[in-house]
Amino acid sequence: MQAVVLVGGKGTRLRPLTLTQPKPAMALVDRPFIRYMVDWLGHHGVGEVVMACGFRAEDLRAALGDEVPGGPSIRYIEEPEPLGTAGPVRLVAEQGLLGERFLVLNGDVLSDLDLTALQRAHAETGAVITLALYPVEDPSSYGLVRRDRTSDRVLGFLEKPEPGQIDTDEISAGAYVVERSALDLIPLGRAVSIEREVFPRLVGHGLYGRRLDGYWMDIGTPERYLQASWDILEGTVRTDFDHTGGPYVDDDAEVAATATIEPRAVLRAGSRVGAGAAIAESVLLEGCRVGAGARVRGSILGPRAEIGERATVGPGAVVGRGARIAPRVALSEGARVQPDEVIEGEVTAV
Ligand code: GDD
Ligand code: MG
Repeated sequence: MQAVVLVGGKGTRLRPLTLTQPKPAMALVDRPFIRYMVDWLGHHGVGEVVMACGFRAEDLRAALGDEVPGGPSIRYIEEPEPLGTAGPVRLVAEQGLLGERFLVLNGDVLSDLDLTALQRAHAETGAVITLALYPVEDPSSYGLVRRDRTSDRVLGFLEKPEPGQIDTDEISAGAYVVERSALDLIPLGRAVSIEREVFPRLVGHGLYGRRLDGYWMDIGTPERYLQASWDILEGTVRTDFDHTGGPYVDDDAEVAATATIEPRAVLRAGSRVGAGAAIAESVLLEGCRVGAGARVRGSILGPRAEIGERATVGPGAVVGRGARIAPRVALSEGARVQPDEVIEGEVTAV
């Protein structure tokens, strides 16, 4: 089986971290985030993955490589301009890289949903496209899917529904099996949204949805990125990460004996945490420095960020790559610090 993974989004809600790195290449616990997706696909019979990159394909390739040992091979395609969520699939097919049936996935989800069951359902119904469906509390920021519960035929697809339109909790999980014939619905040479231009046209003409149980999370915001990290550490999502319930501290991180690292914490390679400092519910990306007595809570520190002695960070702060927080500064809740920015005084939320 082949899979096209859409990884061309700008990751705006994870700025400033995504200003210096594409979202899929960002580390999640112990590996580049997108590795979790490739591993998941590998467990469901996918042997070939095509990464549809909008830009900076080389950055992603540098983080992920051309194959995963024992897993799928990986190719990278760069678009001349952003082609939306459907255009890249057509582009990949035009390059002769796709067969009669393949998977398409949004590249910003962490999941262990049963893609084997999805492929089986697709083959049984003879669908043109079969969407993986997942229930959420609030469908408003997703693609709402109405379906006939007996046949699994989709009765309506509404991208980002208004409150008055929400009459089911099932949304498109951003994973679907596609027949090549569906590509005829994608015009060439311009950006096309599969959710707004293709799915609605297939309602009544071969669009099916299969509800799947398991874990699913779109990691596009700092809160959800952190939650996904804890879910990997605690084994809430099934991955091959060897979870012990404790924090993840890279072998190349240095933690002073008197520092406190709570179970919900990730310290990537080269991070250093000084005496008496406390890290809780936070991720320290590569090469961060946290000074003595500093407190970091509910926050993400970008690569090489420096937190001065006795400074406090968070909750909800995101500190860009190489930014520096001076000693004793109290960064307020939800602060965003730009790459290489130096904060000498108090900062308020944005
Ligand atoms: N190559 C490429 N080019 N990829 C793109 C482009 C583009 O122009 N635009 C978006 N993408 C990628 C993003 O990187 C992401 O992985 C995926 O397409 C979906 O785009 P998002 O911007 O994350 O969409 P969303 O989260 O608001 O909504 C989508 O995902 C939901 C599930 O998380 C929709 O597919 C919804 O229907 C769905 O429920
Ligand atoms: Mg998304």
